[in-house]
Amino acid sequence: MLIKKIKELREYLQPYKADNETIGLVPTMGALHAGHLSLIKTAKSMCDRVVVSVFVNPIQFGPNEDYTKYPRTLDEDYKLCTQNGVDAVFSPSPAEMYGEGFILSNNNLTYVCPPFNYTDKLCGKSRVGHFDGVCTVVNKLFNIAQPDFAFFGEKDAQQLIIIKKMVKDLNIPVEIIGCPLIREESGLALSSRNKYLSDDGKREALVLYKILQNIKKCYKQGITDVAALKETAFTFLNNNVELEYLEIYDADTLDELTKANDNSRAFIACKVEDVRLIDNIKLGE
Ligand code: PAJ
Repeated sequence: MLIKKIKELREYLQPYKADNETIGLVPTMGALHAGHLSLIKTAKSMCDRVVVSVFVNPIQFGPNEDYTKYPRTLDEDYKLCTQNGVDAVFSPSPAEMYGEGFILSNNNLTYVCPPFNYTDKLCGKSRVGHFDGVCTVVNKLFNIAQPDFAFFGEKDAQQLIIIKKMVKDLNIPVEIIGCPLIREESGLALSSRNKYLSDDGKREALVLYKILQNIKKCYKQGITDVAALKETAFTFLNNNVELEYLEIYDADTLDELTKANDNSRAFIACKVEDVRLIDNIKLGE
């Protein structure tokens, strides 16, 4: 079932909630791929009803980012959801979410802002305000659907950590389920943005995973010094790959470390063919 209005989603879910059925929410921006489908599969295995939201959220994109060109493939997304047993696809317009005449300004919207020490690093550093936009929309989706469980991928590990923090700090009655990062057979992390890459670009993009795998290998061999682990990346980089960040932080708190441990996560962001790609790996797994 395709639902575009907040009121309709609430009306649709109401009888199931009255019957004490569990509701799972999988928030997405569409252009669904196997990464999203793995979240849906986990949601199906844990919940009686599964709602997938498909909404390209304007307030989480910076002024020079790809909001207008972000892939929008609702027909295909809807088909994939139906084939995978999703009960409802919620795809509101920006006006439905933010009001008629909404303009991209934060002067007339209440925002949910995660703490600075979670957002002043990794993606938050270059994407200022991004996580305010993410937390605001996810909080709205939680209020609209009031799910028992919500599913997020480790692909966006910083986002997952920040959402868990928001839910804890604001006492939101939902359980956040983190799901493993899904890769192409080549090792490239699946992303809706991979569609922008040429075949050559896709090959170049494998550098991200190679760097992460090598860091993990070095860690397993006994190197724990974070600076030394980060330095191992430089042999893999070339002129076609622009490194934005490479960091090793605590996997739960994003705290800085001098020595890596089993609960550390290596995070990388690079631009390939002007497409911003991110990836990460847990060192202890
Ligand atoms: P989007 O990029 O569409 O991702 C939706 C969900 O799918 C996120 O939880 C993301 O981590 C997960 N995902 C994407 N690629 C994945 C992969 N390769 N393996 C596992 N999970 C993957 O993230 C967003 O949308 C938005 O910020 C959103 C949370 C919907 C708020 O607008």
